[in-house]
Amino acid sequence: MKIVVIGGTGLIGSKTVSNLSRLGHEVIAAAPNTGVNTLTGEGLAGALDGADVVVDVANSPSFEDDAAMAFFQTAGRNLLAAEQVAGVKHHLALSVVGTERLQASGYFRAKLAQEALIKASPTPYTILRSTQFFQFVGGIVHAAAAGDAIRLPPVLIQPIAADDVAAALTKVVVGQPVNGALEVAGPETFRLDAFAEQYLSAQQDPRTVVADPKALYFGAVLDDGTLIPDAGAMLGETTFEEWLDESMAAD
Ligand SMILES: NC(=O)c1ccc[n+]([C@@H]2O[C@H](COP(=O)([O-])OP(=O)(O)OC[C@H]3O[C@@H](n4cnc5c(N)ncnc54)[C@H](OP(=O)(O)O)[C@@H]3O)[C@@H](O)[C@H]2O)c1
Repeated sequence: MKIVVIGGTGLIGSKTVSNLSRLGHEVIAAAPNTGVNTLTGEGLAGALDGADVVVDVANSPSFEDDAAMAFFQTAGRNLLAAEQVAGVKHHLALSVVGTERLQASGYFRAKLAQEALIKASPTPYTILRSTQFFQFVGGIVHAAAAGDAIRLPPVLIQPIAADDVAAALTKVVVGQPVNGALEVAGPETFRLDAFAEQYLSAQQDPRTVVADPKALYFGAVLDDGTLIPDAGAMLGETTFEEWLDESMAAD
């Protein structure tokens, strides 16, 4: 199959491109620095010519509310229109578990808008919703930092290694479109404050994590169900401790 991975140079995209290439598919890693820009439309028609499947794992360069909304709406419209012209048979996009429960956050409003465009397009699709990547724990800590304290609500989170997300995406790419959403999550649940604490301790970062039920997560109030997938989600295999050990060794 010819498969175009939009955002194919990013964290998940590059792993997915490698997996699909190893399976013998013709894979294009599409991104601005390979000459394909979904915001401007540059290079899109050429990349999609003859494509069977498009995997969209691009991300907005800015997480600011309006910028993220503009990115996912404009890029989504351009991409879905180009897919119709090219006769693409399956559009696959990566979204986030609990997106509809996180609508106090502008970024998640943008992700829901991206999902709505996909559902409204005639191209058969699958939305794979993932929980937070282990690689994103630094971003969570950064967003929750106030001086030397990291304030996080002690709610459940079921994060996953990026390798396991890419493996799940690869399985979905070679399957049939479900015209709906699937979920993937990590093998363990944590309390969000304990998850951040384990990361800071591995980094020998002296800052303190404060469990604060009222602390916001990217502007949203969380409860124990917000970040957790439904029963039946695909599960990754890598534990957080395994990932921490590997990433500390790599550093
Ligand atoms: N972080 C999490 O915990 C999490 C959880 C669930 C789902 N997700 C979703 O996973 C997806 C991928 O995230 P990631 O962390 O792998 O992203 P990433 O590493 O930041 O990569 C983003 C990719 O998008 C490309 N891109 C940016 N602007 C583009 C444009 N105008 N046209 C085409 N490509 C463009 C980038 O190319 P350049 O490098 O050339 O700019 C890069 O290849 C996102 O949609 C995100 O919402 C994330």
